[in-house]
Amino acid sequence: MLMVGETIRIALLRFEWEKAMAATDKFLRLDRLRALVNGFGALLDQKPIEERILAEGSLLLADLVRHDDWLPPAFAAPNVDRYQQYLLHCDSRARFSVVSFVWAPGQATPIHDHTVWGLIGILRGSEIAQSYIRPNGLPIVNAPPCRLSEGDVDALSPALGDIHKVSNALPDQPSISIHVYGADIGAVHRSVFTTDGAVKPFISGYANEALPNIWGNDC
Ligand SMILES: [Fe+2]
Repeated sequence: MLMVGETIRIALLRFEWEKAMAATDKFLRLDRLRALVNGFGALLDQKPIEERILAEGSLLLADLVRHDDWLPPAFAAPNVDRYQQYLLHCDSRARFSVVSFVWAPGQATPIHDHTVWGLIGILRGSEIAQSYIRPNGLPIVNAPPCRLSEGDVDALSPALGDIHKVSNALPDQPSISIHVYGADIGAVHRSVFTTDGAVKPFISGYANEALPNIWGNDC
């Protein structure tokens, strides 16, 4: 059982931590995320072909992940139990969604698909992506693993190949990537593929219940 003094000390530490987090949030450049959201909205308003979405969208995402001064700590928190997918924004017509993907050391996805176009930008740390094809139902690697580092942007789509396995490349610290998908990705019916040929449907959902406020920032 904790002594009273220890309880008070922990409460004070928590108060100081919450105060520090609030101060941090106040100075975050959430306008950068707002610019990405506005940029994708304007791009998709033109109903472009997928090739143009990926090309111009990559530039928008590269603009965002070249800065690491905007992601609130709540959406950058690793979880020792599993990697986290935090929703940062979803278009009102679900034409696109933006998420932060947070990996603790040693964490990796299973082999999975997306069924929609996606862009992946590395904000912090490094990831290894291994792509697969399924010519006869069994997933087999079709290229060397690709290491993505801070500032890098990668693209995927069913047309290009959208089956992969992703892992944190860093053994001793979290990595964070920002993804933009051509749907409300947390609600998309997708599949996990095992090396014995099994196909398991899944819907990812999101780890968070509240979104960052990107509209009230005066920057
Ligand atoms: Fe993925």
